Amino acid sequence: RMNVTEEFAGMQLPGHLHTPQSLQYAQEFPFREEDVVIVTYPKSGTTWMQEILTLIYSKGDPTIATSVPNWVRAPWLEHIYFKDNIKDEEGPRFITSHLPSDILAPALQKSKAKVIYIMRNPKDVAVSFYYFHKMAKFLPDVTSFPEFLKLFLEGQVYYGSWFDHVKGWYSQKNNLDIFYIRYEDMCKDLRRSIKKLCGFLGCPMYSGEVDKIEQNCKFDIMSKNIMVNYTLVPKEILDHEQSKFMRKGVVGDWKNHLTDEQNEVFDKLYKEKMSNCDLEMVWNI
Ligand code: PPS
Repeated sequence: RMNVTEEFAGMQLPGHLHTPQSLQYAQEFPFREEDVVIVTYPKSGTTWMQEILTLIYSKGDPTIATSVPNWVRAPWLEHIYFKDNIKDEEGPRFITSHLPSDILAPALQKSKAKVIYIMRNPKDVAVSFYYFHKMAKFLPDVTSFPEFLKLFLEGQVYYGSWFDHVKGWYSQKNNLDIFYIRYEDMCKDLRRSIKKLCGFLGCPMYSGEVDKIEQNCKFDIMSKNIMVNYTLVPKEILDHEQSKFMRKGVVGDWKNHLTDEQNEVFDKLYKEKMSNCDLEMVWNI
């Protein structure tokens, strides 16, 4: 395991991608008005949104989506490779981040950048994150799902607590030009989600173009696209024999993983943690 850890603001992050300098740079980044920033807690639909944005701006033409890796098209702000990948020319730039709001929101507030925050049912996030720990050699070893679930609920995982992330970013609703969307809504009605996104981004779209966007960002197509399925990453970093990055792409896989008892503990904690959050987009969890 290449399990080097970067400690930052009480949070642990993969050390092969983050340094004190890269994190400092992220916090002070001069966002521009045309920037479109995807923000997520890990495993919430980041890659899917990177693909959707690419396709919206190419009006459904898959050329870029199938020839440029997602991390080049929409680089992670906090990663050491950000500077090499971010474009300097005018026009919309896509930027991705997993950083919590207390770290990132101040820089965004100084700009008019558009922010897209995607949320996913935390039970499914926990399951997806567990499988990701199996394949990602830069994350700690996990022996079993119950063990991982406990750490996840305590917020003792890389990138910190899901609850803090979602609450923090939701509290920015009046401070930023921010659009909230749920992974589940995208699964339920992808077309409607794409149209809403186009509205938020100010990108009018013909129906035929929406057809092409929708077609090209379906799970089956993305799973086969080496520019987003992460098979370009060496096996020493992501081991696809342990688990695929494009694993299942469904809602409710937690039902195959959580026991009734674990589910009760989860619900109880969810109610406690989210009671002070007026998030209307709650999950029927
Ligand atoms: S990461 O590592 O934080 O960037 O991961 P992220 O991309 O946020 O989340 C990965 C999960 O998203 C699923 N996914 C999709 N679901 C439905 N449709 C499409 N097109 C799609 N693309 C990615 C992916 O399968 C991971 O979820 P799980 O539940 O593990 O399958």
